[in-house]
Amino acid sequence: MDHSVTTAEVRVGMLGCGTVGSAVARMLDERGDDIERGTGVRLRITRVAVRDASASRTAPLPPDAYTTDPWSVVRDPAVDVVLELIGGIDPAEELLIGALRAGKPVVTANKELLANAGTGLFAAADAAGLDVRFEAAVAGGIPLIAPLKGSLVGDRLTRVLGIVNGTTNYILTKMTEQGSTFDDALADAQRLGYAEADPTADVDGSDAAAKCAILASVAFHTRVVSGDVFREGIAGVTPQDIADASRLGYVVKLLAIAELQDGEVAARVHPAMIPSSHALASVRDAFNAVFVEGAGIGQLMFYGRGAGGDPTASSVVGDLVAVAGTVAFGGRPVGWTPLLDRPIRSMDHSTGQYYLNLHVEDRPGVLAEIAEAFGRNDVSIERVWQEGFGEEATLVFITHRAREGSFQGAIAELRRLPSVRAVVSMLRVEGEE
Ligand SMILES: NC(=O)c1ccc[n+]([C@@H]2O[C@H](COP(=O)([O-])OP(=O)(O)OC[C@H]3O[C@@H](n4cnc5c(N)ncnc54)[C@H](OP(=O)(O)O)[C@@H]3O)[C@@H](O)[C@H]2O)c1
Repeated sequence: MDHSVTTAEVRVGMLGCGTVGSAVARMLDERGDDIERGTGVRLRITRVAVRDASASRTAPLPPDAYTTDPWSVVRDPAVDVVLELIGGIDPAEELLIGALRAGKPVVTANKELLANAGTGLFAAADAAGLDVRFEAAVAGGIPLIAPLKGSLVGDRLTRVLGIVNGTTNYILTKMTEQGSTFDDALADAQRLGYAEADPTADVDGSDAAAKCAILASVAFHTRVVSGDVFREGIAGVTPQDIADASRLGYVVKLLAIAELQDGEVAARVHPAMIPSSHALASVRDAFNAVFVEGAGIGQLMFYGRGAGGDPTASSVVGDLVAVAGTVAFGGRPVGWTPLLDRPIRSMDHSTGQYYLNLHVEDRPGVLAEIAEAFGRNDVSIERVWQEGFGEEATLVFITHRAREGSFQGAIAELRRLPSVRAVVSMLRVEGEE
């Protein structure tokens, strides 16, 4: 019997050769033979666009492969697939749309583009009948997009809950385990290379919000953009919040949460307390994990490295192999065509549980005044207890599930009560049910 397999060469034009691009080039160099044996495609990077063609590089590519003109890569007839690893919207968006119009499927790791300006890109892909793959855009090395779009396509997914930003998870881990302040933990993350010199996009939650938008879009077959995602970063998380959480058996994590509620998509990123027994609580340092809930599957967790050249390259190469298969052997792309136009539920209408610590006057009747303010706003209390006495007295509450707008209304009213001296800390509580 003849066991020989037809193999085909698929030529990749790579835009960008930085952390991820050079790791992709190394992976294809080292693993190319095995990939060809396993899949029947030989992936060859033929052209590479960079900003500085004369810079010395670790990628095992011939010097004449480099150019500073990305359009020459996109238009090169000796390029079958375009891989975009530049980042940002401009010029990545136009380049990828140009590639699709030239009949070339694309692979990208660019969350910013997908979450903010993806509509034009997917319209171009639909018009051309070509694939756009973006496994590396969310949680770096963790295969998540392909399982959501493929393996889990039969299920009715209801919630995706994840730790999708390694920098902030590292900071919160240091605050929890070593009692560091936010500023010290951030400085530590920068020293170790986990945080950029400008850490704004991580710390303010916008990186996680872009990933949340992509996850919500894929999980619920609709179009969600960064601006649809409610966002609160971790700069306001205090050692007091962390200490309160740990005393009560919780840990504080920055969560990206996408939920389907009565046919509407609710998407949000914010710090939250989760029970220390929850699987996400054990995700430490710069690791990422995503918890998926579906009617059939129940609960499922994906865990691994959410960034770094080699882990991210692993996702990129997987996408390249998938796309190259359709280039070489035909078949319909599994592209991401939004099927439904689901409404976005505003944060005010989302529901959740809340933890609240109030510094109060220690006298009879105070608890009743506070309970009435909660009641007037439709917020019911699951647990309440007093800590300390006299000047130090605080009242600690965990609410039942309530509408965000109602809870915020209650907080506004509580701040006006003379018996409430200060709102010491307020955190959302997730993962209880
Ligand atoms: N790093 C990660 O861990 C990670 C994880 C997941 C996703 N991603 C995503 O992967 C993408 C690439 O990230 P990275 O960390 O590899 O970035 P990077 O190290 O900054 O590399 C960017 C590359 O793009 C090139 N470039 C920039 N502007 C260009 C232009 N106008 N024309 C041609 N080339 C240009 C740069 O050229 P020079 O080398 O000449 O400067 C560099 O080679 C981003 O979308 C990022 O969000 C990264």
